[in-house]
Amino acid sequence: MRRKVIAGNWKMNMLPNEAIAFIEALAPLVKDTQNEVILCVPYTDLFYSLLTAQGTNIKIGAQNMHFEESGAYTGEVSGKMLKSIGVEYVIIGHSERRQYFAETDETVNKKIKAALRNELKPIVCVGETLEQRESGKTEEIITTQTRLALEGLTQEQLNSVIIAYEPIWAIGTGKTATSEDANNSIKAIRNEIAKLYGNDVADEIIIQYGGSVKSSNAKELFTTSDIDGGLVGGSSLKADEFSKIVNYMN
Ligand code: PGA
Repeated sequence: MRRKVIAGNWKMNMLPNEAIAFIEALAPLVKDTQNEVILCVPYTDLFYSLLTAQGTNIKIGAQNMHFEESGAYTGEVSGKMLKSIGVEYVIIGHSERRQYFAETDETVNKKIKAALRNELKPIVCVGETLEQRESGKTEEIITTQTRLALEGLTQEQLNSVIIAYEPIWAIGTGKTATSEDANNSIKAIRNEIAKLYGNDVADEIIIQYGGSVKSSNAKELFTTSDIDGGLVGGSSLKADEFSKIVNYMN
């Protein structure tokens, strides 16, 4: 049985004092869960979040990183830097980075390799636009993004990779894919991984759904055959609401 992984993506929200208060409020609400709980926070919150989360079951991730270890890349943060302060996860290839910051399938692939080199676990985002969906290209787009993202990775490295299927039209819009549609897209991604790495790897890999996940739809989404939890944006900004998503079976 695959575990469920619920990750918050705070995006460009939350000051350090808010991050500390959030984690202090969340910790007792999720302490009994069997699910994995991750918060992907802005760089400026990482250190405070790591300290506050110590001794809890909340894990901390970043939202992006550069693929080089160091050098003349003004404004960038490397995987080595994230690892050095104890970060465990990093989101790679979020659609907002692909859309606004020129992230490509090639840089996504390089960043995943750099994350793994630094023993960080990448949460790799794939997903189609509304136009692609309406022209019947969803499966082709998401399987191609998956293949290009994972190019050159070994079977063993796949154990440390999480994939997040996030249809772009569902992000921040309040529109959620139906659980059936989301499950089918995730099955398509799993089949692609089976083709590339075999059934055992495909059966094990965690594939989340993201796009307007909230406490009112989490159970329906996460109890399908193939959705292994969620990457949660807007609903991860309130500890009470996020805890209900983590505890979706209660
Ligand atoms: P949302 O964002 O839950 O606000 O739709 C999800 C994401 O972008 O990861």
